Amino acid sequence: VAVETFITIDEIQGFVAGHRRAGRTVAFVPTMGALHAGHAKLVEVARQHADVTVVSIFVNPLQFGPNEDFARYPRTLNADLEILSEQDADGVFVPNIQDMYPESSQTRIYNDRIANDLCGRFRPGHFEGVLTVVMKLFGIVSPDTAVFGKKDYQQLKLISLMVNDFHMPLKIVGVDTLRDSDGLAMSSRNRYLKTEERQHAISIPSALKAALSAFSAGERSPQKLEEIAFNSLSPELKVEYVAVRKQRDLSAFSDGIDQNAVILLAAKLGGTRLIDNMELNLRG
Ligand code: PAF
Repeated sequence: VAVETFITIDEIQGFVAGHRRAGRTVAFVPTMGALHAGHAKLVEVARQHADVTVVSIFVNPLQFGPNEDFARYPRTLNADLEILSEQDADGVFVPNIQDMYPESSQTRIYNDRIANDLCGRFRPGHFEGVLTVVMKLFGIVSPDTAVFGKKDYQQLKLISLMVNDFHMPLKIVGVDTLRDSDGLAMSSRNRYLKTEERQHAISIPSALKAALSAFSAGERSPQKLEEIAFNSLSPELKVEYVAVRKQRDLSAFSDGIDQNAVILLAAKLGGTRLIDNMELNLRG
């Protein structure tokens, strides 16, 4: 069955309201389109959490910097709708920019702590754009549950914090990263990579795995693990950061790792920016 598509805010709100009146719960998967198997997994998880699944597709201009890839970000609506139909999503919201950001709109969501760290150091204003659009989408769809990938680990943390800080009545679910057979984390931006670039890109998951192996073998120094990962990366990569942080709030360890951690990294390959991470869990 083809997924039902809604363009205006009134239409999607009417759709959700109808289901609510019938006593159904709603799960929501916000996306920027260019969907791949990772997104399909998010929809699958969403369907396990509620009666009705709504997906949004909106390339949000507010989260792109002036020199970033907003204009060339892949837009593949027909293929996206096919994937969503296959995944049995119920409704898809594809708003236009004017409805999401009318002239009158002026409120923005800031996080002045972890939004300026890690990716935020290299993408000023990015997380303000993400949080603002996610707040708007939550306001429009009012889901019971919203599902995000762990590939964007910092984004997932910031959204969870926002929901908590504003006492928003919904549950945030994080889903493990899906990887291609060569280990590369699935991302809409992977389609920018040329064949030879991909060979360098796969050093990212290998580097994280090298750190994870050292961690499993007992290494507890964040600096050592960062070094191990850094040294395994292809020299073709322009590394922005490699960081071991606390899972809880992405703050740095002052000493050895004594609680669940995550190693995160960002690097550029030609014009393509790639991010990835792996959790370092201390066992019971
Ligand atoms: O992760 C994404 O695709 C985007 O950042 C999101 C959450 C849809 C907001 O535009």
